[in-house]
Order: sequence, then C-alpha cells, then structure tokens
Amino acid sequence: MTDIIDGNAVADEIKSGLEGAIETLADAGARPGLATVLMGDDPASQTYVNMKQRDCEEVGIEGRHVDVDGDAPPERLYEQIDALNDDPDIHGYLVQDPTPDHVDYRDVIRRIAPEKDVDGFHPENVGRLVAGDARFRPCTPHGVQKLLQAYDVETEGADVTIVGRSRIVGKPLANLLVQKADDGNATVTVCHSRTEDLAEKTRNADILVAAVGVPELVDGPMVSEGTVVIDVGINRVEDDTEKGYELVGDVDFKSVKSKASLITPVPGGVGPMTRAMLLYNTVKAASVQEGVAVDLP
Ligand code: GUN
Repeated sequence: MTDIIDGNAVADEIKSGLEGAIETLADAGARPGLATVLMGDDPASQTYVNMKQRDCEEVGIEGRHVDVDGDAPPERLYEQIDALNDDPDIHGYLVQDPTPDHVDYRDVIRRIAPEKDVDGFHPENVGRLVAGDARFRPCTPHGVQKLLQAYDVETEGADVTIVGRSRIVGKPLANLLVQKADDGNATVTVCHSRTEDLAEKTRNADILVAAVGVPELVDGPMVSEGTVVIDVGINRVEDDTEKGYELVGDVDFKSVKSKASLITPVPGGVGPMTRAMLLYNTVKAASVQEGVAVDLP
C-alpha cells in the first residue's frame, strides 16, 4: 500500500505549533516581522512571495513586501537590504531568488545580516549548518526532515539518495541528513547532471529525494519497491488550460506511486512545508533578537 504524504496537514501542525511561541512573544510586547524582497516581476516569484505574505497574516507575523525595479542597478536592491538590516521591526527577510541577470545573487546573500537570514543562505549560516551548529535550517530541507519525522520515517542508517545538488535544497539537505543527530545519521548519496548510472543510485535508496528541477525525471523503473519518495520539484509545464501551465514535480507520480511506500504529491507535499519552515525561522529569529525564550514545534 502506498500512503500519500499530506504536506498541507503537517504544515498546519507546524503553524499551530508556532502560535504558542507567537503568543509568548506578544506577551513580551514583541511581534515577529518578516519581509520579502522581489527584484523584477517574474510571475512565479510573485506567486511565491504573495503566498509567503499570506502565510504571515494567517499566523500573526507582521509581513512586509518590498518591490525593486528589475532594471534598477544593484545598488537600489542593496539600499533596501541595508534598511532591512537596520530595521528592528523586521526580524527576518529574504530576497527572492532568482534576481535579474545583472545582479549576482551571491553578493545579495553576503549583504544580508546573518541573524536575519531566515532562508539560511548566508555563508556564515551555511558554515554553521555544515559544522552541525545551524542557526537557521534552510526551509525546504528542514521541511523535508519534518515530513519524514511526521510519518515516522527513520533516517538513522537509511540510504538516502538526493537527485540534485542545489544550494537551496540538495547540498543543505545532504549536510543535515549526515549530521550525527536523531533526524540525521543517514548515508547520503548526492546525484547530479554528471552522475553515471543515476538509476542504480535511485534504486538503492530507502529514501529518495528528487530536487533537480527536471519535470518527471524520476520514473517507476528508477524506484525500488517500498522506497519513501520525496518530490521537491515544482515545474511549470505549459498546457492548453486557461492558466496556461500545469505544475508537475521531478517525479512521475503515476508510475512511481505503485512502487513507493510513501510519496509526496505536487502540489501539496513539500511546498507547504517550505513555507511553514520560513515562519518557523522567523519566529526563531524574533525570539533571539527580542531575548524572549519560546518553545518551537
Ligand atoms: N526561490 C526559490 N526558492 C527560494 C527560497 O527558498 N528562497 C528564496 N529567497 N528564493 C527562492
């Protein structure tokens, strides 16, 4: 029997779990503040930042959105970053990736105050994560860990294959899962475009994570019976519908479903968890900056 992982339900539990922490902060006169910054007008990025703002409203986090003209010089974006670094009402913020071609996202990340970097992308935060002393776990990898926990999937001793070596998902998730920790202790294989015999690696997995951004790359023959399959991909594939596109994952859900013991759908799997963990990091940032101890879910 294959169980379909309900990412919306687990994300709702995390959000409910944050309510107590937000109340504790309110009792101390503090309200967590999260800002999103978008340079340019990429439609997918606009959708993502709108959803993040809606999430803030839902749980009682002060949301703020900053738009920067996509044709402006990088300095216009840096001014906004510097202002957010200095703003005591904003405990965390992110600059939506990608930025326009003339702005190097690595320069953007380095300018963000590490203690407000709720994406966990700043080199200081990456270093801390690798060292086993994470300040903020990046939202998608952390969301994947929480999903596995919620469905009692043991990572200790498990063979985990991650398809994709991105800065946002593959690399940080690999680092988290190899940590000596209850939600780590896995044996991790990270695959990428130069991997030879990808199917051999994916078939060896107890837990298979697809995070490569290639629609439906992972199909039934690449997956062994009983594998836990986590699909991080959210790809827009053009179709004839009114919207003009369909969202598909990196996993061919139809052919993999009958093989997997547990599988995440797209949408409704990892996506809601990424958003919930951004709220989590924001509350954590507020707790540290306000000097108010809170219990996190
Ligand atoms: N673009 C796609 N995913 C992300 C994310 O997690 N954070 C930011 N800042 N940009 C993204």
